[in-house]
Amino acid sequence: MYDIIRQLDEKRGAARLGGGQKRIDNQHARGKLTARERIELLLDPGTFEEWDMFVEHRCSDFGMADQKIPGDGVVTGYGTINGRVVFVFSQDFTVFGGSLSEAHAEKICKIMDHAMRVGAPVVGLNDSGGARIQEGVASLAGYADVFQRNVMASGVIPQISVIMGPCAGGAVYSPAITDFIFMVKDSSYMFVTGPEVVKTVTHEDVTQEELGGATTHSNKSGVADWAFDNDIQALLAVRRFMNFLPANNREQPPVRPTPDPADRKEPSLDTLVPPNPNQPYDMKELLFKIMDDHEFVELKPDYAKNIIIGMGRMNGSTVGVVANQPLVLAGCLDIRSSLKAARFVRFCDCFNIPILTFVDVPGFMPGTDQEHGGIIKHGAKLLYAYAETTVPKITVITRKAYGGAYDVMSSKHLRGDVNFAWPTAEIAVMGSKGAVEILFRKEIRDTELIAEHTEVYRTKFSNPFIAGSRGFIDDVIMPRDTRKRICRSLNMLKNKELKNPWRKHGNIPL
Ligand code: HXC
Repeated sequence: MYDIIRQLDEKRGAARLGGGQKRIDNQHARGKLTARERIELLLDPGTFEEWDMFVEHRCSDFGMADQKIPGDGVVTGYGTINGRVVFVFSQDFTVFGGSLSEAHAEKICKIMDHAMRVGAPVVGLNDSGGARIQEGVASLAGYADVFQRNVMASGVIPQISVIMGPCAGGAVYSPAITDFIFMVKDSSYMFVTGPEVVKTVTHEDVTQEELGGATTHSNKSGVADWAFDNDIQALLAVRRFMNFLPANNREQPPVRPTPDPADRKEPSLDTLVPPNPNQPYDMKELLFKIMDDHEFVELKPDYAKNIIIGMGRMNGSTVGVVANQPLVLAGCLDIRSSLKAARFVRFCDCFNIPILTFVDVPGFMPGTDQEHGGIIKHGAKLLYAYAETTVPKITVITRKAYGGAYDVMSSKHLRGDVNFAWPTAEIAVMGSKGAVEILFRKEIRDTELIAEHTEVYRTKFSNPFIAGSRGFIDDVIMPRDTRKRICRSLNMLKNKELKNPWRKHGNIPL
């Protein structure tokens, strides 16, 4: 008996030491925490239940038979975040560079299967050299097993990936399928092919960081939702973020009681929209002012800034926010902003999170770049996403809602439940100047006449009342009352039931 206990202690000790002190020191020297230190920070203290600590790889090629480290490069199990169960895997770079063997993949699959069974989220902490080279196709099979589970879990349980080291080749596709990707600056990167292959094939000189670092993916590609300065910040952000989410698609998001009154007025909002329709203003000011405790967590803050997406709470309940940002590209919809918002709308719909949409959109971005890049298809994704959702949808038009973009941005016609407009709203086919230039093309040189027509058009159409007269908006509200009116509407919609017709799945214009 004592022998077994001693063996147990030894095995646990070996597993905890991973690839050894030297490699742990190397990890620290690079500003990275170890797999276990990361789990400690992610989960509530003392709640981690580790599984499969004694799993070893089964490879005997390339001298691997003599190199077995208990756990085989990934720490797996479950614990709690603020008392709620979460499954976690954390790749250990000190063990064969965190590379994925058949056994390593089986460990990840096991916790994913359990997470699905009990309806709890999965957080993956990625730090890996990719497929275990010594294992060949067995490793590739392991990746595919993980991918398959990622897909089956999509929309059933929230999946969050934190990239805290290398993540290259096909390995990127597991995080890519998950709901959110958080990255750490300077120590993590993601690419399908690395700088050397890029150099050989396209003759481009590019560093790892430029090609697939956290800044690149959070600014340029939109692959990452957030970039953090270090491991600690990233892990604490995951903890905070999880508080907004339900554990699975059958649960409602958690409610956090707030001292912030649901009927709080915000008189400063009455002057947020400038009198000149071409003058921008910061939509984020509105968001921060109306959310519970002025808390709004923005996702993808550095990508496609012409649209804002993120989470907040209204009267204690989680809401997803989509808002045009007039400060950037006048808030127009383009390929990137459509994709950014569409995926987020679908996430909210999967997980029973009501969607608030704030509209100030002059239309779709013109240009050959956009047309040749497929704005037709990408814009349609946002339209499709909104039209398909069954969660409560509340829309507030603050200023412009022009053309097709009016329809797309959670309009009444796409089953918006409650559609408000501020008195400053302009709901029209296009801006009055553009409209008059088309209608009165022949008189275009007569600037006085054009100005006169423009004014007539503006007075007639650039207001919320024509849409109001059709019932396309439910009410024109004072900006100061926005929080109150949204909170009431959310309360009214609490038990909303709406089902789409049965189908295997729709065919979103991918
Ligand atoms: C086995 C690996 C490994 C791998 C690293 N190691 N990657 N062992 N399989 N894929 C081991 C190294 O031998 C080394 O062992 C330790 O991990 C640390 O690696 P270093 O190279 O010393 O670290 P570093 O300089 O930080 O470089 C990290 C790295 C590099 C950039 C990840 O190791 C690297 O390029 N590795 C190969 C990456 C790769 O080509 N993977 C396959 C991609 S294809 P010791 O014993 O010295 O500590 C793929 C397909 C997935 O992943 C398909 C899915 C469909």
